[in-house]
Amino acid sequence: MITYKQFNLSDCLNSLIVADEYVARLYGIAGDNVYLLPRGEQAKTFAETENLCKWFLSKNLGRNGRVVAVGGGSVGDVTGFACSIYKRGNVNLTHVPTTLIAQIDSAVGGKTAVNLDGVKNAVGTFFDADTLIDIGFLQTLDNRQILSGCGELLKYRMLCTNIDKVYCGKITEDVIRACVDYKLSLCQVDMYDLSSRRALNFGHTVGHAMELSCNLPHGIAVANGLYYETLLAHKLGMCSKAYFTKWSAEAAKLTDILPVNKEILKLVTADKKNIGNLICFVLPNDFRQTILSLEQVISLLCCG
Ligand code: GLY
Repeated sequence: MITYKQFNLSDCLNSLIVADEYVARLYGIAGDNVYLLPRGEQAKTFAETENLCKWFLSKNLGRNGRVVAVGGGSVGDVTGFACSIYKRGNVNLTHVPTTLIAQIDSAVGGKTAVNLDGVKNAVGTFFDADTLIDIGFLQTLDNRQILSGCGELLKYRMLCTNIDKVYCGKITEDVIRACVDYKLSLCQVDMYDLSSRRALNFGHTVGHAMELSCNLPHGIAVANGLYYETLLAHKLGMCSKAYFTKWSAEAAKLTDILPVNKEILKLVTADKKNIGNLICFVLPNDFRQTILSLEQVISLLCCG
């Protein structure tokens, strides 16, 4: 269930709260029922998951218990993963996303993940959770975090004309609701990411490669990925020059588009959606699966 309301710490006295160190300091989250994770992607490891499960055990978390994950995407991903395997997933989880990216994307749809051997989200599960969205959290984000969220929002605007109409240059609760509703509509027909939900991976194939190799915040990497995947579509004759010009300008408003090279593009071979050596993209403007070889991608994006 998704609820839109103000988050009150006092409603969580009987729950176990998981937050990262930064979020806990910012919102004064402390106490015996609070577990702190390191900030960002560092939290997304098996070791952190094991420690979190041990803490759940030490707190006698049982099937009627509730865990509340307060934070950005990493807190949600690792807490969701721990909840999905602890006592075979017989616990309740509420996500309280504090970043724009988490509110419009990662805290909705039940994906959990940790990273492994440098591969982002290499291990994970699907785990149903509730989500409480408090748009007030967005006021505490710095410009870099907002821009990163806008990278993910740009994906939604390109996928769904209605979201682009609602957006009008401002992040409002209506915009967040439009993204969440759209995502839920895809997840309802394809929870396990086998068909239509894959549209949400638009921008993420090149984006994940750039996130790792250029050490970019997720949404900024996605904005770069949207640029390159739209360029790829244009070069393949799948979208018009006008379409590419319009949306590449939107991506460039969020970040300087970084150059790609063979070394960066080789990282797309680790993508989970790939079939053997072939790389699966979802490209505009039909957002269906397009399968290309690495050599094709390199020649289209690196050679003029
Ligand atoms: N973030 C993409 C998905 O949840 O499918």
